Amino acid sequence: MPLVHDKVITIERHIIEQQERSDGATGDFSAVLRDLTLAFKIINREVMRAGLVDALGATGTRNIQGEMVQKLDAFADTVIYRAMDHTGHLCGMASEENADILPIPEPYKCGKYVLLFDPLDGSSNIDVNVSIGTIFSILRRVTPEGTPGTLKDFLQPGYKQIAAGYTIYGPSTMLVYTAGRGVYGFTYDPSVGEFLLSHDDIRIPPHGTIYSVNEGNYHKWDRRMQRYIDWAKKDIPEEGKKAYSLRYIGSMVADVHRTLLYGGVFLYPADIKSHRGKLRLLYEANPMSFVVEQAGGLARDGGQRVLEILPEKLHQRTPLIVGSPQNVTEVERFLKED
Ligand code: AHG
Ligand code: MN
Ligand code: MN
Repeated sequence: MPLVHDKVITIERHIIEQQERSDGATGDFSAVLRDLTLAFKIINREVMRAGLVDALGATGTRNIQGEMVQKLDAFADTVIYRAMDHTGHLCGMASEENADILPIPEPYKCGKYVLLFDPLDGSSNIDVNVSIGTIFSILRRVTPEGTPGTLKDFLQPGYKQIAAGYTIYGPSTMLVYTAGRGVYGFTYDPSVGEFLLSHDDIRIPPHGTIYSVNEGNYHKWDRRMQRYIDWAKKDIPEEGKKAYSLRYIGSMVADVHRTLLYGGVFLYPADIKSHRGKLRLLYEANPMSFVVEQAGGLARDGGQRVLEILPEKLHQRTPLIVGSPQNVTEVERFLKED
């Protein structure tokens, strides 16, 4: 994956250039992505200040407008909604934080797209200064234009996504997205307030030596999954295989981002308690699977391609095995055995 050093390309310029290359693009869709980056900058600012707000204690409970300081996931949820509700490009939104579709309020126009998002991924890591993220997915509506979006517009299989990506708020903040023509990564430069292209045309390594899973669930897994993990940890000299390393952050965005750049596999399997796994299909699994597939990886639910699952409800969950093609195939080999 070439790192870009010779040109300075902002995400806005990149989106416009991508749009110019695609037939029949009207610019609406570029505008959706552009508007989203503003929301990400605002969330980033708040994430960066989160520790400070705590440290300031008494003054941290109310902000400058006298409003109560919200929890970061509620804050991120509101910021994205407010950045996107009046743009005229969306006919509705759905967020992991809300039970139902979020309509476009009067008097704003209903547009061609729906936006689905996980405003803050990795909530359990907020208070310990570990990487967290935001995940988004954009679909073209299937109901007639000009009317409010309905559930039908949201319950589309992942292969219908026209763009998806994530922001990771870590040691540096990055935005990674695909619009179905490769995967691009931008690093946020706070001194100029811009996301600048830093990772051009990201390709996932075909094979990696890292597995990433909450192994605390081992005893709740199906024995085939247990066997895969047992195998992953073994040195097998006759096969030329060394034990894989385990890395698990507990923020899907961060775990999948590492998998994308270093290779390997990220898993969140079903278990005896959660028969359909933990991760949400529409807000987490689909967008991350689209990114990884576009980078040359695979994303499966243990039986089929994640992007081909027909969603039945907004908050549906799915098991997920995502990463380098050879690693995902290895896992599936174990899942097929008796
Ligand atoms: P969220 O913070 O949006 O609820 O998502 C948490 C998810 C995901 O980020 C992560 O991979 C997984 O939950 C971690 O779950 P465990 O704590 O069960 O490992
Ligand atoms: Mn999440
Ligand atoms: Mn979340």
